[in-house]
Amino acid sequence: MDVGDEVSANELLQAHGLIWNCSLNFIKPMSLKCAVELGIPDIINNHGQPITLSKLISSLPIHSSKAHCIYRLMRILVHSGFFATQKVDNKIDEGEEEEEEEAYSLTIASRLLLKDGPWRATPFFLVQLEPHLMTPWHFVSTWLQNSDPTPFEMVHGKTFWDGVGDEPRLKYLFTEAMATDSQLMVKVIVEECKQVFEGLTSLVDVGGGTGIVAKAIAKTFPNIMCTVLDLPYVVANSQGAKNLNFIAGDMFKEIPPANAILLKWILHDWSDEEAVMILKRCREAIWSKEKGEKVIIIDMVIENPKMDKKSAETQLYFDMLMMVNLTGRERNQKEWESLFVAAGFSHYKITPIVGLRSLMEVYP
Ligand SMILES: C[S@@+](CC[C@H](N)C(=O)[O-])C[C@H]1O[C@@H](n2cnc3c(N)ncnc32)[C@H](O)[C@@H]1O
Repeated sequence: MDVGDEVSANELLQAHGLIWNCSLNFIKPMSLKCAVELGIPDIINNHGQPITLSKLISSLPIHSSKAHCIYRLMRILVHSGFFATQKVDNKIDEGEEEEEEEAYSLTIASRLLLKDGPWRATPFFLVQLEPHLMTPWHFVSTWLQNSDPTPFEMVHGKTFWDGVGDEPRLKYLFTEAMATDSQLMVKVIVEECKQVFEGLTSLVDVGGGTGIVAKAIAKTFPNIMCTVLDLPYVVANSQGAKNLNFIAGDMFKEIPPANAILLKWILHDWSDEEAVMILKRCREAIWSKEKGEKVIIIDMVIENPKMDKKSAETQLYFDMLMMVNLTGRERNQKEWESLFVAAGFSHYKITPIVGLRSLMEVYP
């Protein structure tokens, strides 16, 4: 029977609305990208108070024939929570009558989109919208019908890591995205998880990127000798310090021995087989059980019934991201446990303290 015969006109309209909303959802990030590229968050910030529409327009590097578009761009971004709006009195010249005008201010989210600042989320936001990363999404159904490892590899003919290394803009944005996330994680580690690192004497941050987390651990805990292990192109220009050094290497082959291994945002990049291989290398690197040796993992634990709907949805987006770009996945607690057992670990503790991610301590 036709669906139109089974449901009311209102239900049909609602279902259409859901599909329209879904198909047009790309407009939200694309509008925000436009605002970021025009520097709107910085213009509002530098103004020091809510900025009127006319002042905003006159501050933008746009063609005069497009001035009327800015109100519409700002309206959708206010609706989405990226900017706030209020009415302000606007008196241009002495003696002129006061007129109310719309004025925009930043929200916490747009404050994270300022050009500079330790908490900026701009690189992560922009990198996801790069054509290089968007194109594979058009071919997921094709990929499901062939044996290519990932849609990314099917489209670009190389792995995600090689693809990032070979594309200067992608490499810059991805490295910056990881660095800014690490900055945030440092605040969490130093403020909330100090006890996790207390008593350790050495630590290897496997896939530690440019070393922001390792640098902070080395600074906060001068007794911990910290090593960052990453691919040669990532650590090529990194400078060590007193209790910090950088090693170019492959985590699938060898991890230098240490008291503890840190895997931040690593295992979700890899399939179960690959993740077990990495965990086995970690286990070999932390040999003695007596001194509290452990692997510290910062990653998502999905399907947590206590998580709010929006956060759970974001976690599922990440899972799809891992499927399209890499061979990885986000995992629920049972799936994490299976990996730990397969790699020969005996017990673990999960602390869900870092937003969408958890801190897991895994013991030999
Ligand atoms: C998602 S990033 C996470 C970076 C960092 N841990 C963070 O959270 O900011 C994954 C990292 O793993 C590194 N990586 C990928 N394959 C690797 C390998 N075979 N050996 C060592 N590092 C690798 C990448 O270069 C990248 O820095």
